[in-house]
Amino acid sequence: MNARTLLGIALAATTAVAACGDSTDTLTGGMGGSRAKSSRTPSNNADDDDADTTTPGSTTPGDDTPSGPVPTNSPAGKEFYKTNVHPFMAQKCGSCHGAPGPGPAWLTSADAEKSYAQLFQVGYVVQQSRIVLKPAHGGSTTNVLATAEIQKYNEWVSMELEDGGQNAPPNVLEKLGDCFDRQKFDAMNLAQWRTTRRTANNNTNNVTPWNENANNCTGCDNAPCTTCHSADAATNYKNSVGNPLLPADSTFEESKLTSPAYITKYFGVSPEGKPIASDALKKKSEATKKDRAYTHPMFNLNANQSAALDAFVNDVITKYNAGTCGK
Ligand code: HEC
Ligand code: HEC
Repeated sequence: MNARTLLGIALAATTAVAACGDSTDTLTGGMGGSRAKSSRTPSNNADDDDADTTTPGSTTPGDDTPSGPVPTNSPAGKEFYKTNVHPFMAQKCGSCHGAPGPGPAWLTSADAEKSYAQLFQVGYVVQQSRIVLKPAHGGSTTNVLATAEIQKYNEWVSMELEDGGQNAPPNVLEKLGDCFDRQKFDAMNLAQWRTTRRTANNNTNNVTPWNENANNCTGCDNAPCTTCHSADAATNYKNSVGNPLLPADSTFEESKLTSPAYITKYFGVSPEGKPIASDALKKKSEATKKDRAYTHPMFNLNANQSAALDAFVNDVITKYNAGTCGK
């Protein structure tokens, strides 16, 4: 793989995003942060978030962590999170990253204990976390942490990493790559994962505006994920399966990486250091059904795709727990 090939692919991906017309601002706003759209008023306020916690039976991915005390390797870290970190996370991020969306769900404003576990699950309890790196996005100009908040967040992470030791998230994630099964990975058929255009018929959450014009949006209408996720690390997700310009195993190999943390699309680590499913792809899918037209293209996972995804993830966890990876 030479640099020019990679650059060519990256440019192709950029062009594909740019070709989405109106979506350009929003998508690049998510990545670069400088041109976030101001027209959007988040339709989900703190009240929606509260409502979420009163419906524990919700089946929304990311909402499956039981409420109640979460076992952890760092009781002091958990207390620090609840007292010093959760309040600003709830205030600045909770309105969009709870179950009602439109961002992927990894926080529950009214439940610090649960949020603590959710942040572990999606792989954000690491130094250089996406939480502190993500620029303003999602139509807001104010959803970035202040310097003092970033310091608190990193201070919390340091406590977790120290107390977790070999069971801290980065150390566990690093070992999981050895457990990947090529056949189970290939069975997900990632080359076939595609987007679904938002139309009057699939507006399940009654989002406005919703309908997308197929002519304005090359990436939203039955496009393979590989169109945009082949080689651009800025999107934080790797899928180039079937791309003839790249080695056949590049997605398999790169999905093991902890930096960029492509592995967190599949795996997280519990506060006790156990590998768990991150459900990040399902959370992203759910989020796209709650976000408006021309933002990240909507996608649905069908039953076969979900089953293959679960089979791949569960196999890795089983082998890790049995100590049979790399054998
Ligand atoms: C106005 C709604 C809104 C608020 C408030 C908000 N986000 Fe987001 N966030 C989104 C949307 C929509 C996406 C998906 C699109 C994107 O990545 O730009 C997203 C995506 C993300 C991502 C990318 C990973 C992912 O889950 O897809 C990170 C990281 C993130 N947000 C962090 C934060 C942090 C940290 C805060 C609080 C400081 C925050 N967000 C507040 C709407 C919001
Ligand atoms: C038109 C280009 C485009 C297509 C097609 C596309 N994506 Fe994305 N995707 C992006 C961009 C840009 C981001 C980063 C900003 C955002 O989340 O909106 C992103 C972010 C993501 C993320 C969040 C990564 C993170 O944690 O920050 C996931 C997961 C994802 N995409 C999955 C998919 C899947 C699965 C498909 C196919 C079904 C797909 N995408 C199709 C452009 C695209």
